[in-house]
Amino acid sequence: MGCQSNSLGQNATAPSFAIADGAQEIDPRKVAADLVARFGPGGMDPRVKAHIPGFDAPFFQAGLAGYSDSAMRIIARRHGCPICVTEALLDRTLLDGGKGFAKADLGEIHDNVPGGDEDHPLIGQIMGSDPAEMAAAAIKMIEQGKLRSNKEYRKLAEQIGASGIRDQASVASSPIPDAQSLIPAELGFAAIDVNLACPVKKISKKSRGGHWLREPAGAIEILRAVREAVPASIPVTVKMRRSYDDTEEMKRNFMYLFDAAYDLGCAWVVVHGRTVEQKYVGPSRWDPLKQLVDRNPERIVMGSGDVWDVNQIFRMIAYTGVSGVSVARGCIGNPWIFRQARDLLEGREPREPTIAEQRAVLEQHFELALAVNKSFRDPELHTAKNMRKFGIKFAAHHPQSQEVKKSFIYVKSLDDWRVALDQWYS
Ligand SMILES: Cc1cc2nc3c(=O)[nH]c(=O)nc-3n(C[C@H](O)[C@H](O)[C@H](O)COP(=O)(O)O)c2cc1C
Repeated sequence: MGCQSNSLGQNATAPSFAIADGAQEIDPRKVAADLVARFGPGGMDPRVKAHIPGFDAPFFQAGLAGYSDSAMRIIARRHGCPICVTEALLDRTLLDGGKGFAKADLGEIHDNVPGGDEDHPLIGQIMGSDPAEMAAAAIKMIEQGKLRSNKEYRKLAEQIGASGIRDQASVASSPIPDAQSLIPAELGFAAIDVNLACPVKKISKKSRGGHWLREPAGAIEILRAVREAVPASIPVTVKMRRSYDDTEEMKRNFMYLFDAAYDLGCAWVVVHGRTVEQKYVGPSRWDPLKQLVDRNPERIVMGSGDVWDVNQIFRMIAYTGVSGVSVARGCIGNPWIFRQARDLLEGREPREPTIAEQRAVLEQHFELALAVNKSFRDPELHTAKNMRKFGIKFAAHHPQSQEVKKSFIYVKSLDDWRVALDQWYS
């Protein structure tokens, strides 16, 4: 399933601190206060805001395949998350209208398009193996598939491939008008993120995601193609692992690709401090992130890995110097991490959710997910099955978490969900 690599199951280890000597002694309150003193309210690096004005605080919700649909994103935003990333969408899934790559199971397109006024700003993430298809998929994302038929987008990929990727901009803009004049900016994607990080074999065998760290030259062609296809006003960003593995050759590959991303005009790179080979097993390392920032002060670097609670957001910033932190597993069933981050930035003690707040969010999340899933044959059953895994995570906040978890396992409808909420959250 998607990029998760069964990461919440046997292929992931229990939450632990990243390898970062002394990081746990850093006082998150002081870091938050320093950020605000340096950058003003929100504590955000102005270079990031120059790319995306709504990105006004130094953290965001990561792409999380199987989780981060617009329901989860809206809940995160209601708790102070400034910006979210869609889960990785395969280039071919996008070009084929969602039907072609059912097996890859990276989520449906309808889960990942901007979900109404509240789901903004949103970064759309794409992943794939062919530069021309990635470029056409990026254009389709930007145009939200509204300006051409599926056939025309597929044709566009062929045209870009045939014309050589360097003059694709002219292919893409003719004869269709610029998407930005037709799609209101507030409803479009704020940036396109290219996934060069996903460790899943099914994905990497087909030259996608993290596999590209073994073949940086091919990845560079993809980045070039996507950057050229996307209008200059929309940032292109990159998600990478810190290396494919710990060999010197792979570390050099990483650096080559990292440098190339910025040289090609990408706005920033989000670096996950685990290797591709490591998948989700064992701790991430924050030192490689720190070295990247130390050696490249003029570049915007974002960080990911082992951000399990609000303190780790600020410790990662202080330890590594990254401009923003990607919150991934730490926000599944825990949107309050964003509220707590805002609390710290505003000089308050981070608030734990009350039982009433937990109930309200659990109810809202189900209702939003039902709206997202309305095109399924049995939307309520589909939503209930999908919400079980969230319920189990949310239950961690409840004093009787073991019993609460059990009550979410068999829900089949909104009514069942409410019965569980009445029992435990009244
Ligand atoms: C279930 C799951 C799905 C993921 N899906 C994506 C994805 O679609 N795109 C992406 O860039 N990263 C994805 N990731 C990676 C996370 O964004 C993040 O980099 C990683 O989990 C490390 O952060 P953490 O240790 O704080 O969870 C996924 C991770 C998990 C656990």
